[in-house]
This record gives sequence, structure tokens and C-alpha cells, in this order.
Amino acid sequence: MKALILFDSVFGHTKAIAEAIGRGLGNADSLELISFKQASEEKILSAQLLIVGSPTRGFMPTPEIHQFLKNLPANSLKGKYIAAFDTRILLSTIKSKPLRMMVDFGGYAAKPLHKVLIKKGGVALLEPQGFYVVDEKGPLAEGELENAQKWGAKLAEKFRTL
Ligand SMILES: Cc1cc2nc3c(=O)[nH]c(=O)nc-3n(C[C@H](O)[C@H](O)[C@H](O)COP(=O)(O)O)c2cc1C
Repeated sequence: MKALILFDSVFGHTKAIAEAIGRGLGNADSLELISFKQASEEKILSAQLLIVGSPTRGFMPTPEIHQFLKNLPANSLKGKYIAAFDTRILLSTIKSKPLRMMVDFGGYAAKPLHKVLIKKGGVALLEPQGFYVVDEKGPLAEGELENAQKWGAKLAEKFRTL
């Protein structure tokens, strides 16, 4: 399996989750993990499995990674497997009830990422996945690195049994 993990990260937590997912993938023939800013179309085209992650900011992925994906040519992910993840605030760490309800209702980055990857021709390997941070800027919630590693292993297992 040739896997490519692309991420955006403001405070570093999405990057740490991406690295844990990479550890979970285990015996990929090749695994590259890079910020989307270093990604070229060639790199993306040569991957069999493309995993994309972003922090949730204002209920959405960062505008930069979202736009980057939207700019990929039509059908450029045809024949590739994709998976999307985000980091998001743990609701119980939001003190204000109205804000908590708004964040819960507003949605998270992984779904729109997933949607654009599918629109470009990708085939979903797993459903979009969220990982939690405590408060607005983190740290990561307890156990999330382990959860990310498990999710990576699940992706690898799914890929093997296709
Ligand atoms: C300006 C701003 C907006 C945010 N908006 C949301 C949001 O809408 N929903 C959410 O769950 N978390 C939100 N968060 C929390 C971020 O998701 C959190 O900072 C991020 O997961 C950390 O990842 P990073 O270290 O990779 O940047 C926001 C944080 C900031 C600073």
C-alpha cells in the first residue's frame, strides 16, 4: 500500500494525530506524511490511499486545505481510496452552554473534507473521523493518540481486505 497523509495544523495537534495514524498504518509499502503545503499533484497521483486531516475552525476545515482540495482537477482521485479526519473541541470542556450547543450543531471539518475527496473521485475506506482536543487550543484529550493509532490500523486492515 502506498499511503499519503496530508494535514493542516495550527497548534500542532492535528499533526500529532496524523503521525499516530501513520504509526497505526504499520506496514505500508510507503508512507509519506506531509503538510498539504508541501503536497504536489504528482505526490497525490502516486498514492493509493490518501488520508486528509484538518483542525475544525468555525465548523469547517481550514480554508487553506479546503481550497487546496477543491483545486485538485476533476476526477484526479479516481481509483484511490480516501479517508478524512479532523481535530475538534471536546464539548464538555466548553463552559458556556449556548456555545456548546452551537459547536455541536455547527458540525466539524472531517465531513466537508470527506465530501470534496469523494467529489474528486475518491472511494471512502472509512467514515470521517474526529479526534478531540481540550479547550480551544488543546492539548489533545486523553487517549486520542492511541485512538488515532487504532484508526490507522483499522484503515490498513480495511485496505488489506479489499
Ligand atoms: C478560531 C478557532 C475556531 C475554532 N472553531 C472550532 C469549531 O468550530 N469546532 C470545534 O470543534 N473546534 C473549534 N476550534 C478548536 C480547534 O478545532 C482546535 O484548536 C484544533 O483542533 C487544534 O488543532 P491544531 O493544533 O492542529 O490546530 C476552534 C479553535 C480556534 C482557535
